[in-house]
Amino acid sequence: MYNLLKGKKGIIFGALDSKSIAWKVAERAHEEGATFVLTNAPVALRLGTISELAEKTGSQVIPADATSMMDLEDLIDKSMEILGGKIDFVLHSIGMSVNVRRGNHYTNQDYNFTKTGFDVSALSFHRVMSMLYKKDAMNEWGSIVALSYMAAQRVFPDYNDMADNKAYLESVARSFGYFFGRDKKVRVNTISQSPTPTTAGSGVKGFDGFIAYAEKMSPLGNATALECADYTISMFSDLTKKVTLQNLFHDGGFSNMGVSTAIMEDFMKDYQPEEVVEEPKKNIK
Ligand code: NAI
Repeated sequence: MYNLLKGKKGIIFGALDSKSIAWKVAERAHEEGATFVLTNAPVALRLGTISELAEKTGSQVIPADATSMMDLEDLIDKSMEILGGKIDFVLHSIGMSVNVRRGNHYTNQDYNFTKTGFDVSALSFHRVMSMLYKKDAMNEWGSIVALSYMAAQRVFPDYNDMADNKAYLESVARSFGYFFGRDKKVRVNTISQSPTPTTAGSGVKGFDGFIAYAEKMSPLGNATALECADYTISMFSDLTKKVTLQNLFHDGGFSNMGVSTAIMEDFMKDYQPEEVVEEPKKNIK
């Protein structure tokens, strides 16, 4: 390991179980010398296995619903107390769509579910940053990262209302990132990750096909959760101090592909070209 985060203090949202991207980030941050607080929604703390991770990384767990300003205030106050000062890095690794869970089609949403999903997956990023900003809780040259997906830019029909949530999330990274950079010298970015087999990921309809397609399309193959953690660590380290307001694709090259030979070969296996009937030429005088 490289001691990339030696002496740095952080808050990591969203480690549910050992498949979670946030779980891998916590393990890697620990290996790189950071100390941090782990947090998740109270219900997730009851269902998940976060205490195992806390023990392994010598961290404390503070419950916080990321849609509650009261919980977030309490989390940030307690984190600074436990860690003995301001924060150097924050990971927002939170996502949930009630419409996806209930199988509602994108064109037929329950808007109360849409609002809940938006609050959890997107607005929560603004809330977290707003509380950090107001409390002046970030150290200069600190780094804030949220995880996103390419459905923010392109159509993936079964990603449903999460596509809109990710578009907002990425926009907030830019808009809030401006003020955080100007006023506090803190950088804010989103990492747009390959489909990854986690609890949130596997909830998306047709996820197996989704992941297999991306694997075949990407010249380097899909990025794993651990690889995403490595990239996130680099974004928390002092090696990326001037990277801000960016949506950074971490997807094995998928986002710049049109089609790969592997996908084309698969497609051509079943392709039956239609017989082309030529129109009789008119005799134009
Ligand atoms: P995960 O299911 O392990 O993590 C999602 C986390 O959000 C859970 O820990 C859950 O408890 C937390 N959460 C839900 N509601 C919350 C609330 N009200 N307050 C606080 N936390 C809450 O799944 P994964 O895949 O690790 O997700 C992490 C992030 O990565 C999400 O933003 C997801 O959209 C993003 N992402 C995932 C991809 C995938 O294919 N798995 C691809 C690209 C991005």
